[in-house]
Amino acid sequence: MTAALSSSTSSSPVAAFTPDTVSVVIGGSSGIGRAVAQALGQRPGRVVVAGLSTGLDVADADAVRAFFDELGPVDHVVVTAGSQAPGGAVTAVDLDAAKAAFDVKFWGAIAVAQAAAPHLRPGGTLTLTSGFLARRTVPGAFVKTAMNAALEVSAKLLARELAPLRVNVVSPGLTDTEAYAGLAPEAREAMLAKAAASLPAGRVGQPSDLAAGYLFAIDNAFMTGAVIDLDGGALIQ
Ligand SMILES: NC(=O)c1ccc[n+]([C@@H]2O[C@H](COP(=O)([O-])OP(=O)(O)OC[C@H]3O[C@@H](n4cnc5c(N)ncnc54)[C@H](OP(=O)(O)O)[C@@H]3O)[C@@H](O)[C@H]2O)c1
Repeated sequence: MTAALSSSTSSSPVAAFTPDTVSVVIGGSSGIGRAVAQALGQRPGRVVVAGLSTGLDVADADAVRAFFDELGPVDHVVVTAGSQAPGGAVTAVDLDAAKAAFDVKFWGAIAVAQAAAPHLRPGGTLTLTSGFLARRTVPGAFVKTAMNAALEVSAKLLARELAPLRVNVVSPGLTDTEAYAGLAPEAREAMLAKAAASLPAGRVGQPSDLAAGYLFAIDNAFMTGAVIDLDGGALIQ
């Protein structure tokens, strides 16, 4: 016996991208954020990129609020700003450096959420960025672990507070971006090769791999409060 497949409820429409759609990528001038901005740029609408190099410091909450107040209505906000954090054990980390990293990546994302929320149009989304260390304990990576874990739980709270707007998090694994530009070329290649060999996926991430995750979060009208792991299997090692 066969049953006709029918939908008893109409599916929630994904807010279509139109020439009026406004997307904002905070941290979109390099690395993962730039790939997200490029992918969004293939769609109708306007993509606004902001970051230190455009004069917006997310650690300055007043500046973030002024930025969104000036921008007006927005549809999709992505935050990828702030890839640097000091290493060190909990008992030994440089507290000033740790707080400065939190000011950018953690408090910066919260400042963006607060400033963007009143301007997000119905159907809008906010997508934050954590990192696989949020749920792995690696000696010396305390600050990244703490910041990313705090971001993931904050995004879940935001998803409830801002509903029916949708809030999600993309959690990258090791991804080949400008974040590692400080390493000498050979050291960077060696680090990436070693990481690739150790990962179940057999490779590190490319910014375009990650951009696909942000677009998934933006497009899927049933996804909110979620953490999307794009880490080559780092969490199952
Ligand atoms: N790459 C990885 O392996 C990896 C792994 C796990 C998690 N992540 C996370 O993924 C996100 C993106 O990383 P990425 O590798 O793409 O890094 P990236 O290439 O270094 O890009 C970071 C971006 O943050 C912006 N930024 C830094 N400080 C800022 C500030 N105070 N105010 C505003 N913008 C600021 C930079 O803007 P300007 O260029 O304009 O200065 C840049 O566009 C970060 O949250 C990072 O922690 C990355």
